[in-house]
Amino acid sequence: MKRLVCIVVVFYAALVLASFSLAGAEGKDLVTERCSACHSTERVCRNLGQKDKAAWAATVGRMVSKGAALDANQQTLVIDYLSTLAPGSAPVCK
Ligand code: HEC
Repeated sequence: MKRLVCIVVVFYAALVLASFSLAGAEGKDLVTERCSACHSTERVCRNLGQKDKAAWAATVGRMVSKGAALDANQQTLVIDYLSTLAPGSAPVCK
C-alpha cells in the first residue's frame, strides 16, 4: 500500500512538472508564431522588461482586437510568458 501511494505521488509530481514546462513552451511558441504575423518579434523584444503584467495584458488585448489569433487561454499563456521574460531573451529577441 505504501508503495502504491509513493508511485501515485511521484506520478503526480511528474505530471505537475510536465504541465509547467509545457505552459512555458506554449507561451514561447505562441509568441514566435502568432506575434510575428503583422510585425517582427523585434517589436515585442523592445518591450521586454519595460511592460509589467498589466501592461502586457493591455497590449495583447489590443493585438487581439487587431486580429491576433489567440483564444482567452492562449492570451493568458502569452501574457505570463512575456511578463517574466528578461530583456534580450531568445527566441523573441534574435
Ligand atoms: C493582426 C496584426 C497583429 C498581430 C497578430 C500582432 N500585432 Fe502587435 N502590433 C500590430 C500593429 C498594427 C502595431 C502598431 C500599432 C499599435 O501599436 O497599436 C503593433 C504594435 C505592437 C507593439 C508596440 C506597441 C506597444 O504597445 O508597445 C507591441 C509590443 C506588440 N505589437 C506586441 C504584439 C504581441 C505580443 C503580439 C502577439 C500576442 C502581437 N503584437 C501580434 C499588429 C499586430
